[in-house]
Amino acid sequence: MPTLPGFLPAQRAGLGTSLRELWLWTVDGLRRQQRHTSRSPRLHRPHDVREALLVEYVEVARAESERGELVLRERREEGGPAFLELRANGVFVMDNAEFTSEEALASAALELVDTPRQVLVGGMGLGFTMHRVLADPRVERCTVVEIEEALVGWMRDGTVPHGQTMLADERAHVVVADVTDALAEAAPTSYDLVLLDVDNGPSFLVHESNARLYESDSLGDARRVLRPGGALVVWSMDRAPELLGAMAGVFDDVAAQPRAVRLQERDEEYWLLTGRVR
Ligand SMILES: C[S@@+](CC[C@H](N)C(=O)[O-])C[C@H]1O[C@@H](n2cnc3c(N)ncnc32)[C@H](O)[C@@H]1O
Repeated sequence: MPTLPGFLPAQRAGLGTSLRELWLWTVDGLRRQQRHTSRSPRLHRPHDVREALLVEYVEVARAESERGELVLRERREEGGPAFLELRANGVFVMDNAEFTSEEALASAALELVDTPRQVLVGGMGLGFTMHRVLADPRVERCTVVEIEEALVGWMRDGTVPHGQTMLADERAHVVVADVTDALAEAAPTSYDLVLLDVDNGPSFLVHESNARLYESDSLGDARRVLRPGGALVVWSMDRAPELLGAMAGVFDDVAAQPRAVRLQERDEEYWLLTGRVR
């Protein structure tokens, strides 16, 4: 008898339309899913095969760019609420089920400086870091640099339901660009804070081309655009010792802070890496 495939698409199961996929989380499929995604502390997943769920995915939007495919989809677990999930080339980027770590990136950064008037956020995602930055009345401008034009469009046109509200703040300025280039081109001492959340950390890149962002040239650009008293904060799924070493060569008071996050009754950890400009 042929082995059941790990994930059984709806059409093969005789269900649904091309935009609608139904994946059956078989034991084998769940293990494969865990292997594929276990490096991302952002991801919610059943933590035990006994909790295998019927999970339904409905594609909300899809775009192609020179980096490949970007998909926004709704994930609904049997009997539970629906969440939005962002994937780049099949790799889980983030969802809106648990975004405390994206907000914590902002709040931790805002605590580091006395006057965070000008803030640059690298990677818009679903906007949670930007939104938390803008909740601080000291912030006069939050520049969000996002590489995927389609995602900016989905935030602006309501495809991401909370997008328009978040972007309505007149202090929010969205730039479609690679943040590595944006840092290289920015004027010296133009920001009080630079927040980077474009990957799951330097050891788990969303795009291979982002590797250069964590090298000393780009870190030097990040330092150059910061004012004295400013800081860089990077979201990472691990302690990223290589990046810490590179940051230590460029920034003052470099530190790595582990943060706990609870994802579906599972304790996970992520790191905030900080460097200051004295
Ligand atoms: C994990 S999400 C960011 C989550 C965000 N902090 C939030 O609160 O929703 C990563 C985002 O960075 C974007 N990105 C990836 N590489 C980038 C780059 N080099 N420059 C700018 N944005 C990039 C991705 O398209 C994605 O939207």
